Amino acid sequence: MATMSMKTPQDLFIHELSDIHSGEQIVVQMLEQAQGMVQHPQLQEGLRMHAEQSRQQARRVEQVIQMMGAQPHPVECHAAKGLMQSLMEVVASDPSPQVLEGAVVAGAMKTEHLEIAGYTGLVEKARAMGQTEAAQLLQENLQEEMQMLQQVEQIATQLTQQMAAMPGANAAAQASASS
Ligand SMILES: [Fe+2]
Repeated sequence: MATMSMKTPQDLFIHELSDIHSGEQIVVQMLEQAQGMVQHPQLQEGLRMHAEQSRQQARRVEQVIQMMGAQPHPVECHAAKGLMQSLMEVVASDPSPQVLEGAVVAGAMKTEHLEIAGYTGLVEKARAMGQTEAAQLLQENLQEEMQMLQQVEQIATQLTQQMAAMPGANAAAQASASS
């Protein structure tokens, strides 16, 4: 992709749409794998539902690219890929179920913030270019990401409180108090 010449704001818009389109596909993979890693029923259901939403979001992004009379650039979303790799590092470290669940939630929160940042910028650009219909489609994605973030944040709070109450959660503080 380094060889593709990008000169106009529209080129960048298409590039960013392509990047987030790739990101959605990576997120679908990540969510499907993560469903099998957690026991929390609300979290499991949230991951399942959001995988479905993410497929729909990818289709909306494709629609926007078509509306612009363009083709998606063959890019891979490095940020989403990196978040997925970070989660896989935890998976490979023989984690306890609680640690794994915590890592899934942390990964989901970071992914949502990434997507929210991406769609916020894209909605603004579409509006600035007078692409009302494109802006609406991107706004729908943004709305869904924000709802998902709220849901994940609630679960994260629950899990953090549970983890803090577990033996060993505060090992460093206990060690320094007894010295
Ligand atoms: Fe998404």
